[in-house]
Amino acid sequence: MRAVIVYESMFGNTRTVAEAIAVGLSLQGVDVEVDEVGSVLVPLDDTVDLLVVGAPTHTFSLSRPETRASAAEQATAPLVSTGVGLREWLEDLPTGLPMRVAAFDTHVDKRLPGSASRSAQRRLRRRGYRPVLPAESFHVTDMQGPLVDGEVARARGWGARLATSIGAPGPRATST
Ligand SMILES: Cc1cc2nc3c(=O)[nH]c(=O)nc-3n(C[C@H](O)[C@H](O)[C@H](O)COP(=O)(O)O)c2cc1C
Repeated sequence: MRAVIVYESMFGNTRTVAEAIAVGLSLQGVDVEVDEVGSVLVPLDDTVDLLVVGAPTHTFSLSRPETRASAAEQATAPLVSTGVGLREWLEDLPTGLPMRVAAFDTHVDKRLPGSASRSAQRRLRRRGYRPVLPAESFHVTDMQGPLVDGEVARARGWGARLATSIGAPGPRATST
């Protein structure tokens, strides 16, 4: 089975979560490719069983050019994503592929009225795709991170649950 994870990340936290989700999927026997949203190279075709998208929450939703500019002003290190955001990428997502989908985000505030993942999930549904699990959020301690303790392990676990949801073969056999 094949999964593609496409993430947007300003300060690196969403990338870390994407990589942890990939580990969780991979340990359950799924072949995973992880791509930054501005440099997605993998063609999405009918060999992809699962598309997972992730982004940081900016003003209760997916980022926009203005919020990315604001992130750039605050950044104390080079940004991870410097091109297109997930909002724009999803607008060009082809319709009609047989893949299932899932969305996640990172954010600071636990009592959030909206989130990037819920916004991404709405967009995926509008394009005809069915989520395998509800949109999931992972928490950072502050604007630029780091992730709250335990979130990387939780992301691995979420990846494993995604794998089960698409009927992955289960734990990879270890060679002797
Ligand atoms: C412009 C901007 C707006 C943000 N708005 C919110 C928000 O509405 N709620 C929230 O909890 N966090 C908000 N954040 C914090 C981000 O969610 C946080 O920076 C992100 O999770 C870090 O992920 P990254 O390292 O992958 O960029 C905002 C951050 C920026 C830069």
